[in-house]
Amino acid sequence: MRSNLANKYRPQEFSEVVGQSSIVKILEQQVEQQAYKHAYLFCGPTGCGKTTLARILASKINNGLNGLEELDAASNNGVDNVRNIVKSAKERSVDSTYKIFLIDECHAISSAGWNAFLKCIEEPPTYTIFIFCTTEVNKVPATIINRCQRYNLSKISTSAIVDRLKYICNQEQFTYTDEAINYISKVSDGGMRDAISRLEKVVSLSTNVNIDNTLAALGSYSYDIFFDLVNAIIDGNEQEIIEIIGTMYYYGSDLQLFINELFKFCLDITKYTIFQNMELLEIPITYEDNIKNSINFDDASKYYMIITNKLLELKNTLKTETNLRASIEIALLNISRWE
Ligand SMILES: Nc1ncnc2c1ncn2[C@@H]1O[C@H](COP(=O)(O)OP(=O)(O)OP(=O)(O)O)[C@@H](O)[C@H]1O
Ligand SMILES: [Mg+2]
Repeated sequence: MRSNLANKYRPQEFSEVVGQSSIVKILEQQVEQQAYKHAYLFCGPTGCGKTTLARILASKINNGLNGLEELDAASNNGVDNVRNIVKSAKERSVDSTYKIFLIDECHAISSAGWNAFLKCIEEPPTYTIFIFCTTEVNKVPATIINRCQRYNLSKISTSAIVDRLKYICNQEQFTYTDEAINYISKVSDGGMRDAISRLEKVVSLSTNVNIDNTLAALGSYSYDIFFDLVNAIIDGNEQEIIEIIGTMYYYGSDLQLFINELFKFCLDITKYTIFQNMELLEIPITYEDNIKNSINFDDASKYYMIITNKLLELKNTLKTETNLRASIEIALLNISRWE
């Protein structure tokens, strides 16, 4: 079995880390000058490199030697877990200069746990370094935050994700099209782990990463259906609307997800009517001509805005609906009457 790609391509060196460049620079400098802080806090969105950076920093501090203790606070969040760490922190490491504690997902630590930490972080034993990571810094007590050197990692740009995915494809000898890689990168919304996991899903279907395989593997709907449906709504073609929903229903599609995707699709087209720029859209670039055809009438922007708004309402009402198919039919027919 192929190993998990996100783990396989977890950077081992600062130079491999994508984005986060100013943070990487500062940390490299600290390593160079061996001027470390007693406590670090890495916060930011999921899958953008917090744990990765923490591990690289730890390995640089100890020259690749041991001395790193990791605690996954998501499952070990109690005061006893913290007491064990505090106790261990007081004992000098035997096989490395520093004893380093990586407390991952630290927002999960209980308040009793934080209290047990506080003194130790205020006056840390020499040669002890704490690195906290979290996606939810608002749940970390201010008293702790104030005592850490805090770094805010950011989402990774689509173009940087594109480059990384292409690198992985080349290493793994997957074939790919730019269109598919762009699509995966855009829908991953700045999360590198998400992007790599999506790529992995696609290659488990086929190592030919083109847009058709990508849409099929990710369970995304073919864009042709969305174009047909939206054009039918604009034209008031009620029969076609009912037929398309019927087809989706009989194919066993998740209708709620379908409407969510249709909403995103219409929002994308609305954006296109404003900016005439595919860069901002999730819809793959090869569909630009279809988009142009679909908005080739007076006041297109206004119409798409209305559809998008109504779909947003529908999306919310569906959460509590039991007969999805009927609710969707009624809602779309209503929109298509344009009175
Ligand atoms: N900045 C990055 N550069 C290169 N790869 C990255 C980067 N960020 C994440 N990755 C990829 O995503 C995987 C997960 O990254 P990491 O564990 O560092 O995320 P995280 O920020 O700790 O996320 P979480 O909040 O979910 O724990 C890594 O194994 C790596 O493959
Ligand atoms: Mg992490």
